Amino acid sequence: MTMEAIGGHEGMVVYRTPEGIRKVAITDEAWRDLLREPQWLAAMGGDHAPRYLGHDNSERWTLQEDLGHALSIDSNPVMALGAATFFDQCVDLLTALRRAGIYHGDLTPPNLAWTEHRGLCALDWQESTLMGSSLPGKRDTTDAWQLLDTYMGLMGGCGAFKLAGER
Ligand SMILES: Nc1ncnc2c1ncn2[C@@H]1O[C@H](COP(=O)(O)OP(=O)(O)O)[C@@H](O)[C@H]1O
Ligand SMILES: [Mg+2]
Repeated sequence: MTMEAIGGHEGMVVYRTPEGIRKVAITDEAWRDLLREPQWLAAMGGDHAPRYLGHDNSERWTLQEDLGHALSIDSNPVMALGAATFFDQCVDLLTALRRAGIYHGDLTPPNLAWTEHRGLCALDWQESTLMGSSLPGKRDTTDAWQLLDTYMGLMGGCGAFKLAGER
């Protein structure tokens, strides 16, 4: 099976495999952190989030649906969709989170993906919490704030590149 390492952090490696995205914990602490994610993915049920596909306790990995490339300046839907449509999709994602009663907690570009059928989706639910509970540095408006920041940042960046290209 081909396993391409595409990310991760200390103690945890993220692989793209033909079956989906496999996150492998190397340390006990990373495995505890990894097991925080499935409950949120299950609660979202594939709505603006990857579907959860299972885990292996002895090999310490989780498997989830692959939603393609995360957003970046080179890979984002803003220019293709136009600003107004993309903004609608940001609101759709925030609405889905509010309905589920979940703070995502880390809505930055590497933790966002877009597909034509599923729209704007959030990845990396390891910092998520139930609405009403509090984490240091997080507040009710953190998800909306981060997403708006992402949106403005991508729009600003893409707009500037486009303008520079047209000159
Ligand atoms: N379900 C997924 N579909 C596609 N890419 C993913 C998925 N989950 C993670 N990734 C990719 O792997 C990277 C790292 O995974 P992430 O869950 O964000 O871990 P970390 O805690 O290291 O930020 C993400 O930035 C994204 O590029
Ligand atoms: Mg991440």
